[in-house]
Parts: sequence; C-alpha cells; structure tokens
Amino acid sequence: MRRTALVTAGTAGIGGETALGLAAAGLAVTVVGRNAERGARAVERINATAPAHPARFVAADLASLDAVRSLAERITTEGPLTVLVNNVGAMFADRRDSVDGIEASFALNHLSPYLLTELLMPSLQSGAPSRIVNVTSGAVGVAKRTFDAVEPPGGYYGFHWYGRAKLANLAYTLDLAGRLDGTGVSVFAADPGGAATDMTDGTLHDPRIVSPGLRLLWPLVRRKFERSTSGPASVAAKPSIFAATDASLAGRTGVVIGPRAQPVAPFPAATDPRTAEAVHRLSRRLAPLTAG
Ligand SMILES: NC(=O)c1ccc[n+]([C@@H]2O[C@H](COP(=O)([O-])OP(=O)(O)OC[C@H]3O[C@@H](n4cnc5c(N)ncnc54)[C@H](OP(=O)(O)O)[C@@H]3O)[C@@H](O)[C@H]2O)c1
Repeated sequence: MRRTALVTAGTAGIGGETALGLAAAGLAVTVVGRNAERGARAVERINATAPAHPARFVAADLASLDAVRSLAERITTEGPLTVLVNNVGAMFADRRDSVDGIEASFALNHLSPYLLTELLMPSLQSGAPSRIVNVTSGAVGVAKRTFDAVEPPGGYYGFHWYGRAKLANLAYTLDLAGRLDGTGVSVFAADPGGAATDMTDGTLHDPRIVSPGLRLLWPLVRRKFERSTSGPASVAAKPSIFAATDASLAGRTGVVIGPRAQPVAPFPAATDPRTAEAVHRLSRRLAPLTAG
C-alpha cells in the first residue's frame, strides 16, 4: 500500500525539513501552509531529491477552524493516511484572536491540531499501522496549568501562553495515545529542541513575551533563547522524523521523543488525567467536530 503523510506547516522551518525526511523514507507527502509560492518551492525542493512518490502542496490557514475542517474533508476523501505530523505552531508578542475569536496561540498550537487529528481519525484508522506526531516544546515548563478557560487570568505573555497551549496539546496527545491503544494508530509527541526559524526569529527578541519577573533578567533570558534556537531546522526535525518513521517505535504509543531524537520521560504535568479531561472538555466546546 502507498504510504501517505500530511505535514502541517510543512513548507518551511522544522516542518519543511520533516517533510523532506518523510519523503526520503518513502512516504507520499502532502505539505500544508498558507502561501502558495512557498508551497511550490517546498514541493520543488522535495521532488528534486527524486523521492519514491512526488510531494504536493495543499493551501490552508490552520488558524481557522473551518479551514481545518475543509482540509480534513479533502484528505478524508483521498483514502488511508499513514502519518499525520501536527507541526503547526506559533508564538505572538501581542495578544490576538483567531478568525474564530479564540486567543490565537491556543487556537493554532492546540485547537487546530486537535481538530485535524479528530477529523482524520477514520483515515488514520484505515491507514493503520499509522502514526500521529504532535510537535511539542520545552516551553510547556513555563505554562500555567489551568484549563477551565482558553486563557488563564492575568496579563498576556506570549512565551507563557505558547507554553500553555503546547501543554494542552501534550496532555491531549498522551491521553489520546491511551484511548487509541490497540487500534494500530500510535500517537507520539516530538520536541524539536530549538532552531532558527521564522517563528523564533520573529518573536524571541521581544521582552514582552515573558512575564514581568523574567523581564528583569531579559539579557540573560534572551541569551538563553538565542543559544537554544541557534541550530538548523534540519536537526530540529529529527525528533519528528524519528517519531513518524523509526522501526524501533513499531507497536509503541504515548512516547515523547526528545530533542536528541530518542524517547524521553514526558513532562509530568502533561500526564495528569485531570489536565487531560479539562483540555478535552475545552477543546470539544471550542472546536466542535462539525461547524455550528
Ligand atoms: N523553532 C523552534 O525553536 C521550536 C522550538 C520548540 C518547538 N517548536 C515547534 O515546532 C513547530 C515548527 O516550528 P517552526 O519554528 O519551524 O515554525 P515556523 O518557522 O513558523 O514555520 C513556518 C511554517 O509554518 C507555516 N505556517 C505558519 N502559520 C501557519 C498557518 N496559520 N497555517 C498554515 N501554515 C502556517 C508556514 O507557511 P506559510 O507562511 O505559507 O503559512 C511555514 O510552512 C511549531 O509547532 C513550533 O511550536 C519550534
């Protein structure tokens, strides 16, 4: 059977390198992004490596829940899916809402991958053994751990809000792995560590992304950010590629792959069933599987 992969935000950065790696592993890769020119360049780059199956680009703004639904509908009509890499993610210096009126980093880092995953479940089940890879971040460590509402109380600090959305997604990922155990659909989280990409170049220079306490230490914090995101995206893509393809993970699920592309212990807060339940409740409410 032809093995297929969908990589969100797969036209540049870590997703672009992940798509390249999956194509090299023999998968027919679809990359998703907003910009068609960027998409064409990404496809050209992959296809220049003469992969077993040509890659293609599908346009979607994954910040929109309707766009996620349309993408899922299109992919579903095409048959079984072997690998879904939910790579899309973003951090914002200023608080903003998505087109659905939801705080944008929660929408993009958690609700979008959540909804796409749930809607593509029939395709993933018919593609089994199949894998879902959700891209996480070390920023989960700075997250507020309450998920009764989209946003925790207090001021907006992009890095912390980003970490909280990633924590929601990690808790969802590990919980989903338990729910799908035995179905042939494995679920992994991949932590890229850090890389110089549009995302990090665009936001990590702005002290407003951290809480006032950390702002007092901004020169130190900034240096830490710069050091941890100075590497190439090709290295940061290795955890996702490993999670999506490595034979050692066959039959396993619920594993977090760390920046060195090896299994690591999950961040403890993400394994709390109360967190998973709160995230699930919030996700079902904000991102219903059918548009209201
Ligand atoms: N870079 C790091 O140091 C780092 C560290 C830890 C975790 N991560 C995570 O790794 C993942 C990839 O990060 P990255 O740094 O490679 O990000 P990035 O540089 O922002 O990724 C660029 C890609 O995202 C696409 N994209 C952006 N917004 C989109 C949207 N609304 N809908 C569809 N596509 C969109 C872009 O295409 P278009 O512009 O054409 O839409 C392009 O393909 C994210 O989940 C991020 O949170 C990154």
